[in-house]
Amino acid sequence: MLATNKELLSVATTEGYAVGAFNIQNLETLLAVVEASTEEMSPVIVAATPSTIRYAGVEYLAGIMKTAAESVPIPMSLHLDHGKNMETVSKCIDAGFTSVMIDGSQLSFEGNISLTKQVVDSAHSKGVSVEGELGRLAGVEEATVEEKEAVLTDPLAAEEFVKRTDVDALAVALGTSHGAYKFKGEPRLDFERLKTIRRKTHIPLVLHGASGVPSWVIEKATKYGAELEGARGIPDKHVKKAVSLGISKINIDTDLRLAFTGSIRELLAGSPKEFDPRKILGSAKTAMKKVITSKMRLFGSSAKAL
Ligand code: G3H
Ligand code: 13P
Ligand code: ZN
Repeated sequence: MLATNKELLSVATTEGYAVGAFNIQNLETLLAVVEASTEEMSPVIVAATPSTIRYAGVEYLAGIMKTAAESVPIPMSLHLDHGKNMETVSKCIDAGFTSVMIDGSQLSFEGNISLTKQVVDSAHSKGVSVEGELGRLAGVEEATVEEKEAVLTDPLAAEEFVKRTDVDALAVALGTSHGAYKFKGEPRLDFERLKTIRRKTHIPLVLHGASGVPSWVIEKATKYGAELEGARGIPDKHVKKAVSLGISKINIDTDLRLAFTGSIRELLAGSPKEFDPRKILGSAKTAMKKVITSKMRLFGSSAKAL
């Protein structure tokens, strides 16, 4: 069933679990999300970035995403991830997305508020939910205290941002970053900051850059030739803690890309005579589905759509 992020996240916040937002790039990533969420009976967010929209075209993407949502017995929202301007937001809303993120995190505080508020006014008039972002998802491992403060979300600023924009959800920066190389040393998230933000804001909070870069996925990919030295993600126990402290939407992209790549490498290496795209991509779909299923169990969203 088609749902909005606002609907999914208000239940998740009350019940204390997180909904996974999985980035799709093609039919196979979408099918992996559909199959895992149906089997797990888990609410789910299907997300597409502006670069995926450029790659596939918004109409093609929205077409398969809407078909997916209408065909499953669980609530599924169709979400624009990291929208950067009003034009992309409007294109996605017109195509049938039920939720958009406006990422003004590179702008000044006032610039971010002004762009986000403009998107909120337009999206809310069409029943579409909006996620904003405050703070930046940059690696802060080797940063000084001042540098960290400039990057991580300031709780007082978050309070003001939420009041002035009326966003439905807020992405916060706690020390995670996008991609497969998140930490050189010990993975660390600023949980004290999360606790304060949770106290000062009263809307669902979002964790980006949450991939775990699981060792079994890395081992398979590297066994078949991938070069991923130094890849490191967020340990499951940190994700669990973030959920317990009030994160209710978690974004995953990298872990699916890694599973996709490892599986295709393995299949091509082990079956040199195979050239049927459905067999090659079908194996990748199965590998991604396994990752998505494990995330749903970790986030606590399995069996929440019964
Ligand atoms: O923020 C989301 C992604 O991990 C980066 O996605 O390569 O589709 O822009 P993209
Ligand atoms: P990862 O790169 O950790 O999967 O994060 C994805 C993300 O935040 C998409 O918005
Ligand atoms: Zn992100």
